[in-house]
Amino acid sequence: MSLSFDVHPDPSPATAEERAAVLAAPGFGRHFTDHMAVATWTVEDGWGDAKVVPYGAESFHPASAVFHYAQEVFEGLKAYRHADDSIWLFRPEANAQRMIDSAERLALPTLPVEDFVASIEALVRQDTAWVPAGGGEDSLYIRPFTIAHEDFLGVRPARTVRYYCIASPSGPYFAGGAEPVDFWVSRHYTRAAPGGTGAAKCGGNYAASLAGQEEAYAHGCPQVLFLDAAQLRYIEEFGGMNCFLVTRDGRLHTPELTGTILPGVTRRSILELARERGLDPVEEHIEVDDMLARVRSGEITEAFACGTAAVVAPVRAFKDGDEEYVVGDGTSGPVTMGFRQTLLDIQYGRVADPHGWMRKVC
Ligand code: COI
Repeated sequence: MSLSFDVHPDPSPATAEERAAVLAAPGFGRHFTDHMAVATWTVEDGWGDAKVVPYGAESFHPASAVFHYAQEVFEGLKAYRHADDSIWLFRPEANAQRMIDSAERLALPTLPVEDFVASIEALVRQDTAWVPAGGGEDSLYIRPFTIAHEDFLGVRPARTVRYYCIASPSGPYFAGGAEPVDFWVSRHYTRAAPGGTGAAKCGGNYAASLAGQEEAYAHGCPQVLFLDAAQLRYIEEFGGMNCFLVTRDGRLHTPELTGTILPGVTRRSILELARERGLDPVEEHIEVDDMLARVRSGEITEAFACGTAAVVAPVRAFKDGDEEYVVGDGTSGPVTMGFRQTLLDIQYGRVADPHGWMRKVC
């Protein structure tokens, strides 16, 4: 039976003035709405106790399994306000399915697609006032996640699990918006190995990416490019974003999904758009040294990162040790910006949605 997320309204929500101050300059992931959706799973009873409750701190037993063995999965998607004030989600069923796939890999219980979507819709309906105005690039970033909640130090799947969905009014992920960004090629740190959890959206992958990310910062790059863990030979993904290259013939190239790369919803959408446009995108193994040589020779004319949070972020240059490889002329290229604009136009309801990707909440 499907879950029903009953609403328990916050008796003292943020005032209209407090909310307006946040929405005027939300940043990314810093502020949260008045409510959150929650549900509990037990091995005996399955999912239950679903509700929307006031957002706030929770108390956890220090022995909660998630703190020790990182049994956790999460998702990221956005709610968009359209010009007529209606609120829409972009492909929430795809995120729901990916969370099921991630949960299976992390030996967590799966939340059915309809319950995942119902939790988001109940939360967004309750906190509609927190969805930023459309027009720019602000949206309500939604973060569903499932954690091992059992107080037990033995290493086995938890028998008590909690699901949460929180929401954060947010602006662009990168402070510079669509300004091209430098990416550091990490020759030392990797994020995912064959047979591991690379294709799952789990906190552990992001924890594993942080040292590489710090190395990137230390070299003046806001982002990192990870290589495959087995040979340090092929490009895989950026820190939390998938990677695309554009060649002089206008073709799109992206690393193929081999189990160590997150199957991004934005990645998939771009591939679908590219196929429709006859761009014949290629999913393949891409050797890092070959890629850098082709950037330098000018054969690769554009590169970009993509993900829910970042949408599409152009690459200015790759930095590899002391070498810098500027992509094209170092500015945002037309193919990159074309995909970025198309996605944003669909998400904000400025163009038709022939794929039926958008789902109206209210
Ligand atoms: C997203 O794009 O939604 C992510 O989860 C990635 C993270 C860098 C914010």
